[in-house]
Amino acid sequence: MFSTTLLLCSLAAQATASWPDPICTGNCSSVHDPSVIKRTSDGTWFRLSTNGNIAIASAPTLTGPWTYQGAMLPDGTSIQVVDGQQIWAPDVSLIGDTYYTYYAVSKVGLQISDIGVATSQSLEPGSWTDHGSIGIPKSSNYNLIDPNYFRESSSSPVYFSFGSAWHDIYQTSLSSTYLTQASGANPANIAYNSSGAIEEGSYQFWWQNGSDKWYYLFFSSGACCNTPPSLAAPGDEYKIMVCRSSSPTGPFSDQVGNSCLSGNGGTLVLGSHGSNVYAPGGQGVLYDPDMGRPVIYYHYVNPQVGYNFSDFLFGYNYLDFSSGWPVVVS
Ligand SMILES: *[C@@H]1O[C@H](CO)[C@@H](O)[C@H](O)[C@H]1NC(C)=O
Ligand SMILES: *[C@@H]1O[C@H](CO)[C@@H](O)[C@H](O)[C@H]1NC(C)=O
Ligand SMILES: *[C@@H]1O[C@H](CO)[C@@H](O)[C@H](O)[C@H]1NC(C)=O
Ligand SMILES: *[C@@H]1O[C@H](CO)[C@@H](O)[C@H](O)[C@H]1NC(C)=O
Repeated sequence: MFSTTLLLCSLAAQATASWPDPICTGNCSSVHDPSVIKRTSDGTWFRLSTNGNIAIASAPTLTGPWTYQGAMLPDGTSIQVVDGQQIWAPDVSLIGDTYYTYYAVSKVGLQISDIGVATSQSLEPGSWTDHGSIGIPKSSNYNLIDPNYFRESSSSPVYFSFGSAWHDIYQTSLSSTYLTQASGANPANIAYNSSGAIEEGSYQFWWQNGSDKWYYLFFSSGACCNTPPSLAAPGDEYKIMVCRSSSPTGPFSDQVGNSCLSGNGGTLVLGSHGSNVYAPGGQGVLYDPDMGRPVIYYHYVNPQVGYNFSDFLFGYNYLDFSSGWPVVVS
C-alpha cells in the first residue's frame, strides 16, 4: 500500500512536470465540451462545442486557425425539458455518409435532462436537421447529458455512453437508424466514484499495438466550472482520467488495477499544470491522419484570461499509447 502510494506520487509528479502546453491557433475561445472531426470530402476540420446552440468552427488543420462559422441549431432544439434550458456537449461522428451530432438538453443542476440528435451531410451551419430526443428513458439513477457514440468499425456494434452526477457514467446501444436507443436496451453503469467527485464527459476509444488491443474510457472528474472566490479545493477541480478494458462494455479498471465501477478507479491523463492550464476536461480523442498520431483535445481555463463560462479555451496535445496507457506528450 505504502509503496504503491509512493509510486503514484512520483508518476504524477513526472507527468505534471512534462505536460506540454495546449495547441491551438485562431479562435480558441468560448469553447466547452468540444467535439472535433475531419470532413472526409475536403479535409476541413470542424469543431462543435457548447455555446450558443452549439457553436461550429472550422479550420484547415487541427492546429488552426479556427474560425467561428455559426450555430448548429440556431432555432434551438425540438426537445423541451425546462425553461431556460441549454444545448450542451455535442458529440459528432460520421456514420455512413452522414454526420450525426448527439447533444444534451439541460440546465445546471437539472436531472431531467435529455439527449437528442441532429444530422447533416456537410457539417456546415444551416445544413442540420434536428431529430429530437433519442428516447433513453429518464431515470433517477442517471442524468442524460454528455453523450458519446462509439463504434470500432462499420461492422461492429454501437456503444453509446452518457452521464454525470447521480451515478456517473452509463452505457447503452442505439437502433440501426442511430436516431433512437435500441429497443429493449437497458443502460448499464460502467464508471462510478463513490467518494464524491462527479465523473462525466465520457469518451470511448480503442487502440491496438500488435496483438495488444484495449478499449479506453476517458472521462472528466471533479468540479468543472467554479469561479473565484468559490474555486474547488486544489486537486478537486476538473481533470481528465482514463480506464481501460479488453471489452468495449468493460469491466474497466485503472493502471493500478482498481475497478472504475466499484473501486473508484481512474488514472490521471491530464490535470491543471503550470500557471496557464487549470481544470482541463470535456475531452475527446482522435487519430490525426495528418500527423499520424493520436490526439486528445479538451477545454481548459487559463487563469490569466478568466474563469467565466465565456473564458474557457480549446486546446489539444498528442498521446503516446506505447505503455498501453495514454500519456500526454509533445
Ligand atoms: C469565437 O468562437 C466562439 C464559439 O466557440 C464564438 O462564440 C465567438 O463569437 C467567436 N469569436 C469571434 C471573434 O468570431
Ligand atoms: C473520486 O473522488 C475523489 C473525491 O472527490 C477524488 O479525489 C478522486 O480523484 C476521484 N477519482 C476518480 C477516479 O474520479
Ligand atoms: C466574469 O465576468 C464578469 C463580467 O461579465 C467580470 O466582472 C468578472 O471579473 C469575471 N470573473 C472572472 C473570474 O473572470
Ligand atoms: C508497441 O508496444 C511496444 C511494447 O510492447 C512498444 O515498445 C512500442 O513503442 C509500441 N508501439 C507503439 C506504436 O505504440
